Amino acid sequence: MKPPAANRFRDTWAGEVDASRAGDVLRVSGWVHRRRDHGGLIFIDLRDRSGLLQLVFHPEASGAAFKAAEDLRSEHVISVAGTLVERAPGNANPNIPTGGVELQVTEMDVLASAETPPFPVDEEGPIDENTRLSNRVIDLRRESMRDALLLRDAITREMRSVLAENDFVDIETPILTRSTPEGARDFLVPSRMQPGKLYALPQSPQLFKQLLMVGGFERYFQIARCFRDEDLRADRQPEFTQLDIEMSFIEEDDVISLMEGLMERVFAISGFPVPPTPWPRMGYDEAILRFGTDRPDMRFGMEIHDISSVLRSSEFQVFRSVLDSGGVVRGINVGPRETPRKELDDLTEQAKRGGAKGLVWAFVQAGGVWRSPIAKFLSDEEMADVSSALGASEGDLLLIVADRAKVAADVLGTLRLRLGKIASHAPTHVPLWVVDFPMFEYDEVENRFDAIHHPFTAPLGDLDDPASLRSRAYDLVVDGSELGGGSIRIHDPAVQSRIFEILGISAEEAQARFGFLLDALKYGAPPHGGIAMGLDRVAAIMAGRDSIRDVIAFPKTASGSDPLTGAPAEVDERQLLELGLKLA
Ligand code: AMO
Ligand code: AMP
Repeated sequence: MKPPAANRFRDTWAGEVDASRAGDVLRVSGWVHRRRDHGGLIFIDLRDRSGLLQLVFHPEASGAAFKAAEDLRSEHVISVAGTLVERAPGNANPNIPTGGVELQVTEMDVLASAETPPFPVDEEGPIDENTRLSNRVIDLRRESMRDALLLRDAITREMRSVLAENDFVDIETPILTRSTPEGARDFLVPSRMQPGKLYALPQSPQLFKQLLMVGGFERYFQIARCFRDEDLRADRQPEFTQLDIEMSFIEEDDVISLMEGLMERVFAISGFPVPPTPWPRMGYDEAILRFGTDRPDMRFGMEIHDISSVLRSSEFQVFRSVLDSGGVVRGINVGPRETPRKELDDLTEQAKRGGAKGLVWAFVQAGGVWRSPIAKFLSDEEMADVSSALGASEGDLLLIVADRAKVAADVLGTLRLRLGKIASHAPTHVPLWVVDFPMFEYDEVENRFDAIHHPFTAPLGDLDDPASLRSRAYDLVVDGSELGGGSIRIHDPAVQSRIFEILGISAEEAQARFGFLLDALKYGAPPHGGIAMGLDRVAAIMAGRDSIRDVIAFPKTASGSDPLTGAPAEVDERQLLELGLKLA
């Protein structure tokens, strides 16, 4: 940090002094991190944002400050002045950057006292998350939260500078707006001035950024807050942040190479290695086949193999009936692994929760024969063929599912993740572009097509055969997490209308909901496309945190509440009245 402008509180950052300043008279400010009394001397670790500095209070040399130091407690706020001295070699603390020096205090102002905090700031031990969120100010003082938020700041700063170097313009878009179709539920805000009407909070700036392209801005970005009312998980918050980007006169490769350059610079901040660009691309179908998901974690192998052809003529009833009805048999080789019966039952239960009718497990024994509940139903040759298709050798555990292709992929993809998490990971982030998505997915229950990305994604193929359409979308997946996604957009109003029609949105409804976009496209829309990166996810992966809550200053819990403010909360009857609302 650059030295603070001197004032009555401080002239130096506590965490940044070293032996080169020994002999200087300094003033520092901050919190009492830790306090120790040692045979007449009082030692205080003073903490500010930059780090820690040891203060020494001496009964004579510190004068009145010594007396006051006797009453200091954790988290009191002080400003002190004194002389910086080098510590004797035996007294140096190698664990902190300022461990070679200490400040011999001659003067102290106690600026605020603190009640005993609900948990210690100076220990990183596990603390119940609700307690942390209810007492976020204390939590934010802890090293792990400070580091996470400073890293997040470094990330957005780097993003902004890369984009500025590439002539992007930062433009804000509305928060009070109309529903945008990213596929989640909207948060709604009733209008007081127009009773009966509601704003929706944007699920993303998607439509506005497209309008900015039609408006001639060429290159837009925004670090944008998005709002989605959906079920929350470790990597999902009801409000989250995107690095949102849109460009004109470009194709897929332009967006992808810009983002690779940007993310390479961003990842360099943490120093944790990423492979050199260009990063690999994988088609959606291949990702599903080999990893069971469109966001494969490629840090480990354990790929899924289709063994339907090997078992085509099997007598085993379970495989027979599935294959005869158009299903598949697929498996993974977990590798050599002691797996007690209880865990095999657990894995089977998990497979069933995922929709499978069962799970075959098999241990490959000496001579190639299996130890498995189904060993007696298969010929030696079938067992050998399956083992070889799965690249198995003696001692390996195989897991096999027979089902519809989608169920087999989902279930094996989930089991692979569970078992691969335990295995060791590559010592690098592993990025991958997933491309060549289908445009639509057929919803069997609702009997209609749904867009796999959003309905503004440019289709590839024959518009008269919706089921076969592919899309010009791309997702950036890192370590099994979808960090971002985007596409080339539709810029022809006729194509956009046709996509709405396939989605079952009538011309009137399309005009009512998206008329402003359809109209804009009529006035000369450039070919355009873009991407949005989930900033919270980028920060969490770089900080090595499991939950994005750990890289958000004030996040919400899984039930969408904020234990700190108590939001969401009831409101005054009067406020409801003004809005013309009555709660059911
Ligand atoms: P998409 O819906 O894929 O695309 O979102 C882009 C990225 O945002 C992140 N993300 C989330 N992060 C935290 N909590 C959530 N609830 C959440 N939902 C999404 C993910 C995701 O990859 N308008 C398009 C982008 C475009 O086409 O340019 C869009 O929003 O990391
Ligand atoms: P059953 O004949 O139903 O007793 O099943 C024999 C074994 O095959 C058990 O271990 C089941 O868990 C397993 N199994 C049953 N159905 C399937 C399936 N569709 N895919 C994989 N394994 C299955």
